[in-house]
Amino acid sequence: MTPSVSPYHALRQRIAALCDGETDTVALMATIACELYHAFDHFDWVGFYRHVGDGALKIGPYQGGHGCLTIPSGRGVCGKCAREQQIQNVPDVNAVPDHIACSSTTRSELVLPVVSADGELIAVLDIDSDTPHAFTVDDERHLQAICAIVAGP
Ligand code: SME
Repeated sequence: MTPSVSPYHALRQRIAALCDGETDTVALMATIACELYHAFDHFDWVGFYRHVGDGALKIGPYQGGHGCLTIPSGRGVCGKCAREQQIQNVPDVNAVPDHIACSSTTRSELVLPVVSADGELIAVLDIDSDTPHAFTVDDERHLQAICAIVAGP
């Protein structure tokens, strides 16, 4: 039997090739958001919220329906990810009272921190799905590596 190849295999190669030599953070975020959104049918919203100081996250490059423009870092799943600099994998957003619903169809959510080499929070990567329990530990692992491209060396 042929072992199945992870869809992330080709995706990560493509993202690495597209981002090769690029150092502009917005260019990197835009390219990654586009590639991720189009790679998986169950990624219904993909985007970055940039850490802009004053305890706020501001919308960055994204794909999908329009997202909230500002998220206070004291609020929501994105805010928790920003505060704790830890991945937030939420299988059922309805079970999280603090979840900020930008779309009524969202059922699960994965948020990853983008942290520079010196530990500074640059942004969070937010992926929303209309499917419950959409995100696996494998997603977390691959997306963490993709976030490292935005964070830079
Ligand atoms: N659900 C997020 C807000 C961002 S939107 O879903 C695009 C949260 O709770 O932080």
